[in-house]
Amino acid sequence: MGQSLSAMTVDHVRRPDRRDLARRFSHGEREFTSSPLYQRLSGIVAADDRLLAIAEHCRAGQQPTNLLFAAVHYLLLSGAGTPPPLAAWYPSLGGTRDPRDPALTSVFTDFCGTHEAALTALVASRLVQTNVVQRSAALRIGLAAIDEPGPVTLLEVGASGGIHLAFDAYRCRIGDIEIGPTGSPVRIRTEWRSPLPVPTRIPEIGDRLGIDLHPIDLTDPTERRWLRALVWPENLPQYELLRAAADLVAARSPRILVGDAATLLPQLDETLPTDRPLVVWHAATRVHVPQERRAAFDAAIGALGRRRRLYTVSLEAPDDTAQWYARYGISYALSVRAGAEPARRLAAADGHLTWIEPLPEPGAGT
Ligand SMILES: C[S@@+](CC[C@H](N)C(=O)[O-])C[C@H]1O[C@@H](n2cnc3c(N)ncnc32)[C@H](O)[C@@H]1O
Repeated sequence: MGQSLSAMTVDHVRRPDRRDLARRFSHGEREFTSSPLYQRLSGIVAADDRLLAIAEHCRAGQQPTNLLFAAVHYLLLSGAGTPPPLAAWYPSLGGTRDPRDPALTSVFTDFCGTHEAALTALVASRLVQTNVVQRSAALRIGLAAIDEPGPVTLLEVGASGGIHLAFDAYRCRIGDIEIGPTGSPVRIRTEWRSPLPVPTRIPEIGDRLGIDLHPIDLTDPTERRWLRALVWPENLPQYELLRAAADLVAARSPRILVGDAATLLPQLDETLPTDRPLVVWHAATRVHVPQERRAAFDAAIGALGRRRRLYTVSLEAPDDTAQWYARYGISYALSVRAGAEPARRLAAADGHLTWIEPLPEPGAGT
């Protein structure tokens, strides 16, 4: 059901053309900051029309780079052509070969040629659903900027597998501060780039739920493999964290509704409590909403504030990405917004939340 609904909502908007795609892949160095393999593969794809033609099948709004590489990784993890020579470059599969090795070009293009149909089907049907456990630390910092005792309702838009809905079940070290259950099997660590104290007081969370175009069922091994495939091959600790969190969350069966935020939120408005504040959280989600639909996405969230006090906490690429990137060398901003007031930017952060840098004076902007 999730797949068909998402297809209905995004297929009518523009997909990237071949030239856009080549440009996007040529920026791989900047995108795949912790993956030398994907940095190298990006250059290989940017220069190869046949590989670009596979990536061209991705749905509008989706990042073709992440999607193509996740599709290849997924096939490798599924044992395609075992053991294919390509696996020798993937640390997630025990590979140790240097990505600068010239042989990689032909091995990668051969693999994609052999599996062209399977790759095309994955790229056309799957979504970038990377669930980054570490981003739960940003949710904590955002919640700490909300002056409410709670209980509040927590609604995650773009919840994927619902990993962040259990954020307070994880032991979280931010700078020198440790928060959360001491015995948690999920342990997050984020560098705090500031002499300012880490804010720790957050509202009590009442009920919690998520929505997603295609909620990931963490009890389903195929779905879990797709989540795993989305983790860049070198990021083994990130994958171990995801595995631990996925085990914990699967046992809790989080409530995640299927649908596009722009159309589902107005229906949900009828059922969400009106006697307690609502906190909407979205991370790395708006960036996947096609440009043409972002105003509707924002408006659907904003309209939830008509019947209750609303706060929006987001970790997204800001609209002035180029300036933000020039200033911080990174594309994510943590913002908080009360009702219809202008959003306040709280911090710059690495997309995988290895570090967060609070702004001394929170500035306007999402
Ligand atoms: C990159 S993942 C991020 C997941 C999670 N927020 C995190 O940070 O770990 C983006 C998620 O947003 C979902 N998504 C994208 N557009 C959406 C929309 N219009 N409505 C609901 N979910 C959406 C995708 O299906 C995907 O699961």
